[in-house]
Amino acid sequence: MDATLRNTLEQMPKAELHIHIEGSLEPELIFALARRNGVVLPYASVEALRSAYAFTNLQSFLDIYYAGASVLLTEPDFYDMTMAYLARAHDDHVRHVEIFFDPQTHTARGVAFATVIGGIYRALQDARAQWGMSGALIMCFLRHLPEAEAFATLEDALPYRDKFIGVGLDSSERGHPPEKFTRVFARCRALGLHLVAHAGEEGPAQYITTALDDLHVERIDHGVACLQDPALVERLVRQQTALTVCPLSNIKLCVFERMENHNLLALLDAGIAATVNSDDPAYFGGYLNANLLAAFEALPLTREHAHRLARNSFAAAFLPPAEKAAYLREVEAFFSQQP
Ligand code: ADE
Ligand code: ZN
Repeated sequence: MDATLRNTLEQMPKAELHIHIEGSLEPELIFALARRNGVVLPYASVEALRSAYAFTNLQSFLDIYYAGASVLLTEPDFYDMTMAYLARAHDDHVRHVEIFFDPQTHTARGVAFATVIGGIYRALQDARAQWGMSGALIMCFLRHLPEAEAFATLEDALPYRDKFIGVGLDSSERGHPPEKFTRVFARCRALGLHLVAHAGEEGPAQYITTALDDLHVERIDHGVACLQDPALVERLVRQQTALTVCPLSNIKLCVFERMENHNLLALLDAGIAATVNSDDPAYFGGYLNANLLAAFEALPLTREHAHRLARNSFAAAFLPPAEKAAYLREVEAFFSQQP
């Protein structure tokens, strides 16, 4: 790739809107936390663990991802994991982050909700103080678990309502359509929470439609299956519903065979408000800039596309209007200076 375009991608101000904090846990930190907490891992070394990261689909990844998260026990564990991610994001010129966390992965092991959110939230506060990076939390419900457990998780979360801005839906997509959680999302909506959901990652375009119609989500996570349905594409363009696309994730989980086959360029050229994100960077081979570089290496994406991606990332963020406008001005200032 042209060195100037590479530089633009690396240096441009950007927001990250689709990052599972448990997916930022690097093998080295998994081993360090296992040692600190006396947890015995079924892998002999960092290398042995990393070599297990050969996924064939979403479920094959989730099995390892939930196993990796089992080393997280204390508030400092959640803080250290989050701070390590935020430092990487800062290096990538990420100015604003909206972080997903999966409380059920932890509360099911007896870790208190307060421990989970306390450590993650404290790291976000420190990133704001150190780097002026803004951030917020989105609590995800695990869709392979029953509706009643999502409701119970929401109850656990309510005492911490001031520490998260929205809810999402993740985990095993196929066979767990968004409408399974219609009543939970209705309650979250009544509470004034922002709403997002994973849809159309491995599942069909129909799941994107029901996430919009039944859950009333404001953004779709992944959503790459939308091109199967022209009426849905027309709707996403008309409404400017953002998609949080994760290119390296889609290759590692075999959603597309090779990056050259990825539909990011087609989504952008159709007028969809696509953004680029890292999903689970410790498992998929790279953080936000690595995702941008991999996509731009493989596809004929241009500086104009880079500009749109930077703009889309802030436009789709759940930020107060004045802060959003300030970030969008930063993007325009950056692109007006750069060649
Ligand atoms: N949890 C973590 N990463 C995920 C993904 N890509 N899809 C669904 N659930 C997830
Ligand atoms: Zn995801």
